[in-house]
Amino acid sequence: MKTIRLSIIGFGAVGQGVARSILSKQGYINKQGINLCVVGIADSGGCEIDDKGIDLMGAITRKKQTGTVATCAESAFDLISNVEHEIIVEATPTNIKDGEPGLNNMLTALNSGKNVVTSNKGPLALRFSDLKEMAEDNGLFFRYESTVGGAVPIFNLVHEAMAGNTVIGIEGILNGTCNYILTRMAEERLPYELVLKEAQELGIAETDPTYDVEGIDSACKLVIIANSIFQDAVTYRDVDITGITKITPEALELASKNNYVVKLICEAGNGTLTVAPRLVPKRHPLAVGGTLNVASILTDLAGRITISGKGAGSIETASSILSDVLHIARNS
Ligand code: HSE
Repeated sequence: MKTIRLSIIGFGAVGQGVARSILSKQGYINKQGINLCVVGIADSGGCEIDDKGIDLMGAITRKKQTGTVATCAESAFDLISNVEHEIIVEATPTNIKDGEPGLNNMLTALNSGKNVVTSNKGPLALRFSDLKEMAEDNGLFFRYESTVGGAVPIFNLVHEAMAGNTVIGIEGILNGTCNYILTRMAEERLPYELVLKEAQELGIAETDPTYDVEGIDSACKLVIIANSIFQDAVTYRDVDITGITKITPEALELASKNNYVVKLICEAGNGTLTVAPRLVPKRHPLAVGGTLNVASILTDLAGRITISGKGAGSIETASSILSDVLHIARNS
């Protein structure tokens, strides 16, 4: 059995989802000849470190009861740099201003010989090429499937299953919160403020929901797509962004009468990156409802492939993280 030690940096919904998935999939993982051993967990209150493996259920319970997982004074930086392990799972909240604390966590990991798996969009939207280059220079994995589309395996699909294809363009819905708001406003005629609150209660909105409704979260995801799939060294500032805050119930109603829905569509291709509300025919493959995400990928060999699924959620995001962790475990 190959033991792979990992740390979980950030123990909110996503970090806890990773812990729960490791617990529930232990039998499956062991059958692959892999033993995943979490040796450290960090949140904003401190760390828990145990080189023999942390009691994950105990950590989740303590977090719920006390608000933090901390049992020692070490910082996330100490854990990442000084505790021996192979992979860090970076799941701190997204920050698009300077990418911190996620950016520093990832750079520290790559500088100290640890592979990085992340769900954190901010650092990638600002410094994708630096992070990728540093990982390559140090012979390490840098995996980020869950940053775009949550559970939907866009990067795996393009880089593995569709290897050999040239991607001509990608369009899609990459923000579940906006999709939920637009769907509920159109179908139930509910006011914007109420459905935004619902999205927050569902746990899918960003800590600061203006990231969602102003199109910033979608733009970050588009930048990650552009860097990863089109190898364009772009950042968040290169995206033309319009959010959904100015869409009125009347506009949605008028669209519906004409058999259209309004969707916040992300488009990449021809060197341009756009996030903007668009009219989509009701029966079009991009017209998915609720919190769903969708990506439609146009390639030279395979033509158009469209995939849809859950773009947010604790366990759904953990699904992609676990797949990245297992990829590293199998190939390292
Ligand atoms: N706030 C994001 C969304 C979470 O609504 O899609 C997943 O990135």
